[in-house]
Amino acid sequence: MVVIMDLQIVFGIDFGTTNSALSVYRNGGVEMVEVDDTISGDQVSDLMRSVLYFSEEKEIFTGSEAIRQYVGDGAEGRFMQSIKTFLPNRSFQNTEIFGARYGIDDLVAIILKKLKARGEAHVGCSVDSVVLGRPVVFSTDAEKDALAEQRLEKAARKAGFKHIWFQYEPVAAALTYEETLSAGQERTVFIGDFGGGTSDFTVIRVKGGAFDRSDRRSDVLSLGGVYVAGDKFDSQIMWDKVAHYFGRYARYQPMGKRQWHDIPTTLIKTLCQWHRIPLLRARDTRELIRVLKRSTDNRPALDHLESIIEDNFGFALFQAIEKAKCELSGCEQSTICFNEGDLSIAEPINKSEFETLNSDNFEQIERCIDEVIVQSGLTAAQIDAVSLTGGTSKIPYIQNLFVERFGADKSENHNAFTSVAHGLGSSVPLFV
Ligand SMILES: Nc1ncnc2c1ncn2[C@@H]1O[C@H](COP(=O)(O)OP(=O)(O)OP(=O)(O)O)[C@@H](O)[C@H]1O
Ligand SMILES: [Mg+2]
Repeated sequence: MVVIMDLQIVFGIDFGTTNSALSVYRNGGVEMVEVDDTISGDQVSDLMRSVLYFSEEKEIFTGSEAIRQYVGDGAEGRFMQSIKTFLPNRSFQNTEIFGARYGIDDLVAIILKKLKARGEAHVGCSVDSVVLGRPVVFSTDAEKDALAEQRLEKAARKAGFKHIWFQYEPVAAALTYEETLSAGQERTVFIGDFGGGTSDFTVIRVKGGAFDRSDRRSDVLSLGGVYVAGDKFDSQIMWDKVAHYFGRYARYQPMGKRQWHDIPTTLIKTLCQWHRIPLLRARDTRELIRVLKRSTDNRPALDHLESIIEDNFGFALFQAIEKAKCELSGCEQSTICFNEGDLSIAEPINKSEFETLNSDNFEQIERCIDEVIVQSGLTAAQIDAVSLTGGTSKIPYIQNLFVERFGADKSENHNAFTSVAHGLGSSVPLFV
């Protein structure tokens, strides 16, 4: 029995909102696989951006290739990111792309298929078993949460997997953390996984040494998560620091009236989630913008609004916003720099401003952390260590939340981008 299990090869896939990664479980060990090139194309990477690009010639690209093609094509085709975000969204049934219809599971399957192919090239044989990561909370609505998992499972089947198991992403990160402990060392640890779409938490008992193949559910003392992570911070920066370039404070005079009215907020709010910007291409919206332009007090801003919709530069703008956000994790001050046509943005932003404008987002995260501590039945003092992972855990304010609660010496930051995928590989013996 043991021999058969050890000969078995199973993939661990962390399909992330921003980045995806793949591990292989074989011969009783876990390896990470280089699944893509870096965006510049000059190095291999164990991360693949979870993006898709459909060219007008009906070719489909994923990861770094999708980004290069999209930029090279002058953004003529259809680019998609944060696809994971749509999984619990019942109203997203399918989308038409250049005459073909794609369900959400079809879109996810394209990414999973590419990861699977890279994994199979790595091991030299076909593999039909996978442990997939899932956030603790896809949605607070139980039905939507179940729908998201069903869709992810369907996508995995379409990608060619026959045996599919799910593991909570923070539990997977905990299994990776466990490997850093010496044999016999036992700890109760708070794991925080801060990604692009969700922030997920668990308090779990871990033990160093030979991997414990028994059911680990009784070691999980609490689980929780919120739909607030990197993408939300980017949207908030867009709203507070950049939206005024697109008419956030512009006004207009309805025909035949003397009073000034604000530009409809929904228009500007839609801009703050860049993947929703194409929705503004609807005929009614375009007509509305044309009407507003005739009587606005800020014509340049409405020209920019029209052009971000028509010329599809939302992705590039959000890249600039994300870059400034990431810089603020390492210094006090950065600038959102973006140029397109006659739009020139050089908007300074400092760390405390970033923290203030995201205070509601941080508060939601804090509340969830505190709930997860309470639900574990332990006090912060009784929890031995804190391990943070995920790209968003690099934000100093987030790190400080843990210093405040647990003290400076309990916190450790682990490989931000691959610890979940590695732990999914380590989860294999729990299922197989
Ligand atoms: N230095 C940094 N400072 C702040 N944020 C960062 C930094 N580096 C990356 N990020 C953010 O981390 C997020 C991506 O992290 P990660 O790859 O862990 O997410 P994911 O696993 O794809 O998402 P999820 O787990 O929510 O599905 C992005 O929002 C990115 O902007
Ligand atoms: Mg993640």
